[in-house]
Amino acid sequence: PLLSECFNLHDFEAIARRTMKKGAWGYYSSAADDEITLRENHSAYHRIWFRPQILVDVANIDLSTTMLGTKVDAPFYVTATALGKLGHPEGEVLLTRAARSHNVIQMIPTLASCSFDELVDARQGDQVQWLQLYVNKDRAITKRIVQTAERRGCKGLFITVDAPQLGRREKDMRLKFTDSGSNVQKGTKTDNTQGAARAISSFIDPSLSWADIPWFQSITKMPIILKGVQRVEDVLRAVEAGVQGVVLSNHGGRQLDFARSGIEILAETMPVLRQHGLDKKIDVFVDGGVRRGTDIIKAMCLGAKGVGIGRPFLYAMSTYGQAGVERVMQLLKDEMEMNMRLIGCAKIEDLHPGLLDTRGLFVH
Ligand code: FNR
Repeated sequence: PLLSECFNLHDFEAIARRTMKKGAWGYYSSAADDEITLRENHSAYHRIWFRPQILVDVANIDLSTTMLGTKVDAPFYVTATALGKLGHPEGEVLLTRAARSHNVIQMIPTLASCSFDELVDARQGDQVQWLQLYVNKDRAITKRIVQTAERRGCKGLFITVDAPQLGRREKDMRLKFTDSGSNVQKGTKTDNTQGAARAISSFIDPSLSWADIPWFQSITKMPIILKGVQRVEDVLRAVEAGVQGVVLSNHGGRQLDFARSGIEILAETMPVLRQHGLDKKIDVFVDGGVRRGTDIIKAMCLGAKGVGIGRPFLYAMSTYGQAGVERVMQLLKDEMEMNMRLIGCAKIEDLHPGLLDTRGLFVH
């Protein structure tokens, strides 16, 4: 189909399923075990309904907002996803360029196929990137990665905390990993019999703990955000630890199956933060299963600072390259604009929990 015939993010997924190489589709689309969390990530949004307000001037809709001090055109960002060259020979640099043209932020993955330098060099003007960090058992390597990122202008350090071991993604494991185009950390032995994910991740340190956080704070001035927080208790602990943010996320359902959706954790978290007067103390992001402008609006109503999106950009990149990714971004903006109008909100900062009925959210 023509790109202009893709009318929503689901269309891109359907085309990707039909046309992508089996190995790439397997790696991108797979999730842990029975993929219950993968399904829940999106379906949780279906348990939230709107309570629109009428007779508000919605002639002009402004989707812009600020994330970690960066002004962006819309409240979503390109989250970190490894191995971009499985889907497209040019890899994540296409995401960098698309993010630029829509003025949204890209989170660079530790395990990008393109080199870190290539992704940073592709940045234009005042474009902003963040770094996603998998913490290496060898802290000297980790320190070098972090300090290089800071020196090269990354504006946020997202430490992935939900992956002390990589989840079992059986779709991926059935397809032995043979691609060598990945930018795996040097000197790391890989095991190619367990699928792409496990082949590239054996360096990750499962001993990482809260006690390590001060060390990260001592080696960088970048804001530190913990990616993969799954309960309000840990959000409160993150505030205590003095980090600047959390991403409520279950890694796109790829780690612990039966982890709850990010949006449910957000709905659990924000009232507690407000009750303790801590909601200004920490920035809360959410990702997983975001496929519609309404999903983003719901997350922003609940108090998220921004929403991460993974697979839709990969599917679009794999099938239509940079133009596909840009179309996904445009579709999300268009859907958001229309639905902001329909719920009676002209600006992101006007979104609030009272616009939602979340009574069904916690009923599974
Ligand atoms: C991921 N994700 C991820 N997260 C991370 O911290 N480091 C990584 O290397 C990766 N790699 C990765 C690869 C692929 C193919 C996917 C689909 C996901 C998780 C990612 O950042 C994010 O949490 C989810 O992708 C969000 O869910 P959706 O938008 O894909 O539903």
